[in-house]
Amino acid sequence: MRSLPRGKAPMLGRFMSRRQFAQSTAALSLSALLPRALFSAPASNAQEIVIHTDNEIGTVRPELHGQFAEHVGSCIYGGLWVGKNSPIPNINGYRKAAVEYLRELGIPVLRWPGGCFADDYHWRDGIGPVEKRPKRVNMHWGGYVEDNSFGTDEFIGFCREIGAEPYICGNVGSGTPAELRDWMEYCNFPSGSSLSDARAANGSPEPFKVRYWGVGNENWGCGGAMTGREYGDLYRRFAVFAPSFGGIKPFLIACGPNRNDAVWSRDFMSGLSPRLLPDGFAMHYYAEGGMPSDAYSNEGMTAQLATFPLLEQAVIQQRALLDGYDSGRNIALIVDEWGVHDRLASAEEKEYGRLWQSCTMRSALAVALGLNLFNRQADKLLMCNLAQMVNVRAPLLQTDGPKGQQCLRTTVYHVFALFKPHRAKKALRVETQNPSSAEFSVSASRAGSDLILTFINARDGADVQVECSLRGERAGAASAQILHSDDSNAGNSFDHPDQISPQTHPVNLDGETVLIDLPRLSVVTASAQLA
Ligand code: AHR
Repeated sequence: MRSLPRGKAPMLGRFMSRRQFAQSTAALSLSALLPRALFSAPASNAQEIVIHTDNEIGTVRPELHGQFAEHVGSCIYGGLWVGKNSPIPNINGYRKAAVEYLRELGIPVLRWPGGCFADDYHWRDGIGPVEKRPKRVNMHWGGYVEDNSFGTDEFIGFCREIGAEPYICGNVGSGTPAELRDWMEYCNFPSGSSLSDARAANGSPEPFKVRYWGVGNENWGCGGAMTGREYGDLYRRFAVFAPSFGGIKPFLIACGPNRNDAVWSRDFMSGLSPRLLPDGFAMHYYAEGGMPSDAYSNEGMTAQLATFPLLEQAVIQQRALLDGYDSGRNIALIVDEWGVHDRLASAEEKEYGRLWQSCTMRSALAVALGLNLFNRQADKLLMCNLAQMVNVRAPLLQTDGPKGQQCLRTTVYHVFALFKPHRAKKALRVETQNPSSAEFSVSASRAGSDLILTFINARDGADVQVECSLRGERAGAASAQILHSDDSNAGNSFDHPDQISPQTHPVNLDGETVLIDLPRLSVVTASAQLA
């Protein structure tokens, strides 16, 4: 059985011949002493995979790596927004460290202001001189007083700082079609109307050109507790009053189901008129856990990760359901909120804000399983937004409280970084024993001669040796990066902010085969150049 040393190997991450590969492990592995025939016999944890390098599924749209930021806890206030007069280093009020980390990762699209908050938000509260903005109670997230200092102009400014496309979620539950229509005019009409002139007076003569508009959020729950039919009736009214402004045709995103709720989707779709089909249909799907983030049992982790095959099934089934009403596939399927729900700790929530959760190696594996399945279902998805970007649930970044100076990249940030090379490439079909497994997962993508492979070994008890056949193609060079910890409950902390971060990892090439060892609890992305 071949096995590679954990951590820093002698020839890290660059191309090694099969001989060098075997030699590098010789000191640690008996397998190097075994005869060749035995050496290559499939080990008990061997995985044989076929990558169909010429069989494309669809484009891995960068938007599959989208993010979500809501007015909850310290996601906005104290997270990405600290205010212009803050002692915390900032760029026009945006936390500098957050801006820099997010810019480096690249955020394709950012959804705001909610979440549940969206259906209680009135956008006019958040424009104009800050001292004149009304103070309102945030009824969903703890009844704190929201001073509205982060509003539409600040949101667009933030998107511009980090290079993200803005996605605004409108208020259907307690708002009106006129209110949403006016918000669109404020954002997108070039000049000459009272609303566009107000935008110019607020510092932005240039239109914001916001294309993505959500028509409510979770209207089956916190957004109004409606049935699919009731929401469909409202959706039609909102859609009629959502014209193009400044040549920007709004891309209207309707509220989709909770998880794989087919009743909601059918009720909604069957009441629509063909003239008013939404552009997008947004489902929400979280991996519930129920244990404290840093104290999961093995069984608890297995149960939580088992959500991801269900999410994959939901994507396939909801896509098929939509196709039944819209054979031309004009309605895009979106996973608008997804991520990891652990048991919240009230002491941490008190100190750091509502929905605060720690990120661990387990969270990283969970998010990687999600991103791998989005690659595999790339032909069915337009956009997927992680909940949430800063300080809430399993975020990319965490700060040491709303007033804290520190900002760290979580294990989840590093998973997104490992998936970044897939963006805009064509997802490829991969043959494995169980393509949708929550224990061992693979995805692949390609652009020209660049081949990207991501492997996840989510098992806590077994290393895996992967033999990946490229069927008729050869890779001339390869390198790999690994995110790994022996402890699924370990994460990055303010004392050890980089404890779990990507490291180079050995990869071996042998003709048409890529060989790679995955320690237990690891995510590995390999990049190969096809010869
Ligand atoms: O992400 C937190 C909340 O989860 C959102 O506000 C809501 O849409 C979902 O239920």
